Amino acid sequence: MSNCELPANEARILLTHILEKHYQLPRSALLSRDDMSLSEPAFQEWESLVSRRVLGEPIAYILGKKGFHNIELEVGPGVLIPRPETELLVEIALDEITKLNKHTRVLDLGTGSGAIALSIASAAPQASLIATDQSTKALAIAKQNAQCLNLLDQVQFLLGSWYAALTEPSQFDVIISNPPYIAHQDPHLTQGDLRFEPVSALTDYGSGLSCLEIIIAQVNQYLKPGGLIAVEHGFDQSEAVLGLMKLADLIDVQAHLDLAGYYRVTSGRKRL
Ligand SMILES: C[S@@+](CC[C@H](N)C(=O)[O-])C[C@H]1O[C@@H](n2cnc3c(N)ncnc32)[C@H](O)[C@@H]1O
Repeated sequence: MSNCELPANEARILLTHILEKHYQLPRSALLSRDDMSLSEPAFQEWESLVSRRVLGEPIAYILGKKGFHNIELEVGPGVLIPRPETELLVEIALDEITKLNKHTRVLDLGTGSGAIALSIASAAPQASLIATDQSTKALAIAKQNAQCLNLLDQVQFLLGSWYAALTEPSQFDVIISNPPYIAHQDPHLTQGDLRFEPVSALTDYGSGLSCLEIIIAQVNQYLKPGGLIAVEHGFDQSEAVLGLMKLADLIDVQAHLDLAGYYRVTSGRKRL
């Protein structure tokens, strides 16, 4: 490993994967078995994983999985890799569910891998959820994740654009969304991990605000009186999203800081 082209932490993650897969050994074997040599098939796979990473492929796609909040999710090229900052949305929803202290109906718009909906379902058995996406690939991965986590009874998956995915008139206690919010011209779209993720999960192909505008402008129709909406957005979009929520006549509108100190989530409530 010492002459590997990757940073040490990434090489350790990939080698742990090889040890688990080929030898059923835990991560601690990196130290306890550091004199061990790899078999030919294990060595070939190690070299292939390293070259994929050297070409820039995200580690989560190489391993096919990613930890998020309290669960582990299958991820692949058809779906956004869940980010740690999105756990803030999960925490806000879980706080609300705890306060309501009853059966709670939650809508997750643009579910991707199912990250938000499935971590809420896993932590709050009293919640039932609808998770939507317009990508059939994403929904297939989300359903597969729900099956692996044994949460298919609690989460229903619907295909379609934002609220149009709903098959019957419905109102929810909580609506959560992490929609695409990167502006089409943003150079980050052609850098790092983002180059490998689905473009339609990252950008609205416009200013970055158009999906947030649609979701917030129509939210009163889909929230119960007093119900909560919380959305994730870019670090420089907080003022604009606060404005959209006020324009939609929501009350108790608040910006929430992520762990890095940026306002990355905004929430509001429908009037009683
Ligand atoms: C930023 S990703 C978020 C994925 C997941 N919720 C997460 O936090 O990891 C945005 C998701 O919205 C979906 N999406 C994009 N446009 C949509 C639309 N018009 N209606 C529903 N979902 C849409 C994308 O397919 C993608 O899965």
